[in-house]
Amino acid sequence: MMNLLINVDHVGTLRNAREESFPDPVRAAARCEQAGADGIVFHLREDRRHIRERDVHLLNQTVEGKLDFELSTDEEVVSICCDVAPDLATLVPERREEVTTEGGLDVVSDPDRLKNAIAQLYDAGVEQVSLFVDPVQEQIEAAAQTKANCVELHTGDYADAPTEEARMQEIERLAHAASVAHEAGLRVHAGHGLDYNNVPLFRERVPHVAEVSIGFAVMARAMLVGMDPAVRDMRATVKGY
Ligand code: PXP
Repeated sequence: MMNLLINVDHVGTLRNAREESFPDPVRAAARCEQAGADGIVFHLREDRRHIRERDVHLLNQTVEGKLDFELSTDEEVVSICCDVAPDLATLVPERREEVTTEGGLDVVSDPDRLKNAIAQLYDAGVEQVSLFVDPVQEQIEAAAQTKANCVELHTGDYADAPTEEARMQEIERLAHAASVAHEAGLRVHAGHGLDYNNVPLFRERVPHVAEVSIGFAVMARAMLVGMDPAVRDMRATVKGY
């Protein structure tokens, strides 16, 4: 059964829009866990646009389930991640001008920078290190060569598919990628753009997925109906209840 990790970055975005102390991503994380999330995800970006160092340290002290620290290979952020030693570190590409993470890492073209960060993370005691990649065989095979022990498959193209035909093609791509990753000995995670409508097909068709990382859909629903029902509904959707 897939685990549900909830990303609390958007709570930080709202807080920072007014330079206030609320809403607090740390309190939101606790609420998500109480409502049934298996863990919490955050992305400490180089520009600190949502999560800040204060949040990282408090999340590390208070999250009871799995903690997933998303990061780029920026030296300072890698060093903060090493100090925190979360359960899982997920390496993602990062460009300052992007609104959100756009596309997976190009592991094929640039493996050395990643290998260096991965080695530092393992040395610091992080047990799971994941690479966020597009569902492309060569990228997954290259990820396995870096010694990362997980991949997070980028589900954005599936989520954004403009037609039913494209959606079915994307789900096949994800299913194939998940099998390639599993056969390469990698633990399989997935995320980006997953929501209450597209998770059921994903759950049925894509094998070997141990956990999904979901932020925007849950936070957007929480704004209208409250955090507890938003998380509970997503948990039921992910688990197939
Ligand atoms: N996984 C990764 C690597 C991401 O960068 C993001 C976006 O922050 C997510 C999952 C969650 O995406 P969404 O907010 O669309 O659910």
